[in-house]
Amino acid sequence: MANVLRVNNPATGELIQEVKIHSEEEINQALKNGHDSFKRWRKVNAHERSRLLQRWSQLVQEHKEEIAKIMTLENGKPLKESLGEVDYATSYIDWYAEEAKRIYGRTIPASTESKRIIVSRQPIGLVAAITPWNFPAAMMTRKAAPALAAGCPFIVKPAVETPLTTMRLVELAHEAGIPTDVIQYVNGRGSVVGDLFTQSEYVRKISFTGSTPIGKQLIKNSADTVKHMTMELGGHAPLIIAEDADLDLAVQQTLITKYRNAGQTCVCANRIIVHENIVDQFAEKLAEEVKKLKVGNGLDSDTQIGPIINEKGYEKIVSQIEDAIDKGAEVLAGNQYDVNKDQGYYFVYPTVLKNVSADMVIMQEETFGPVAPIVSFKTLEEAIEIANSTPYGLAAYFFTNDYKTGTYIHDNLDFGIIGWNDGAPSGAHVPFGGMKESGLGREGSIEGIEPYLETKYLSIGNL
Ligand code: SIN
Repeated sequence: MANVLRVNNPATGELIQEVKIHSEEEINQALKNGHDSFKRWRKVNAHERSRLLQRWSQLVQEHKEEIAKIMTLENGKPLKESLGEVDYATSYIDWYAEEAKRIYGRTIPASTESKRIIVSRQPIGLVAAITPWNFPAAMMTRKAAPALAAGCPFIVKPAVETPLTTMRLVELAHEAGIPTDVIQYVNGRGSVVGDLFTQSEYVRKISFTGSTPIGKQLIKNSADTVKHMTMELGGHAPLIIAEDADLDLAVQQTLITKYRNAGQTCVCANRIIVHENIVDQFAEKLAEEVKKLKVGNGLDSDTQIGPIINEKGYEKIVSQIEDAIDKGAEVLAGNQYDVNKDQGYYFVYPTVLKNVSADMVIMQEETFGPVAPIVSFKTLEEAIEIANSTPYGLAAYFFTNDYKTGTYIHDNLDFGIIGWNDGAPSGAHVPFGGMKESGLGREGSIEGIEPYLETKYLSIGNL
């Protein structure tokens, strides 16, 4: 196998850059260097760590256009979305630059007068992260910033499709003054690097964003060394529209959640569950708006839907659409493609499917593409049952202006992230993560630094 990764532009299939694959020896050395740096980095005081993170954030913002262009070239997303993602990525660095100074311990009243009890928090050690291609910047800083803020060294393996954004972010972290052994990247195939990370005695925590099957494998492989784990895995988000909902708002927010990044997000709505009395009206309005979305190269200023990342992703989307049509779904928009397998680009036009039913693959498996399957419901109990009938529990959305309906839906959904009349609930200040097979732990907000800290308790006696 060649010892380079060929990073291609998914909009044209053209080669952007070849990137060296690190050897096993180099990766093990990087892990050792990261581990060795822990002794020094944990001693850097919290205010200094905060200042270094602030400087990193500043440099990322100064290079915003450059990073966004790299991201659009390797990922395909529209430049406007890439610029938004650089801001999103920076917001995690900013948030955790502040949290670095708020890692508090506590004292506990002792059970005798001769004792004092002190609880302190300390960094857990070297963190190894594996990040996805769909948000090459934000998923990296969402892990790196809390790790560094907590006093943990950090090593990241970016997705093979999109290593360039991460490499640039790490360079800027070094330029900001964060030592080169405290934040590092390595490039290589997921299975090889994943094994080295999980088997290494130097790594104390694995943080992964990606598919549920790979997450399960990483959890199994980490058992022998009992590592801490944060897993942000697959989703299959339901989006419920109650009979009383503001339909224009529901359409507008569905467009945002469903078609961001050409539907290649873990939190995008994957099952649109609409009350039977409004389903036709909603479906028509959505299809009308979807047909206006401009598909093309992310570097063109009017593009709203970029390419699918690769052939495998494209094949999965097409097979789900075909399966749904074979089983009786009606196409209201899309089911159109612009594909050149020889050159290596795959565009799927945003698609709306009606009359979808539970037996269709699209209702059971994550699509990771710009397809909105619409199913109808009669009662709220039925809507909740459809919504929860999945092993996933990442994000869910619902639309209603009735507070009793909204409270009922919220209380009964088994999902970690819920948007009520809101298709864009993500942010550095909120706890992001899933229930069930969608993951372990939370990223962002005050919860997001906890997984990088150990609790140590001291009992002072004989006072
Ligand atoms: C994801 O799809 O994994 C992340 C989306 C987000 O942070 O909003």
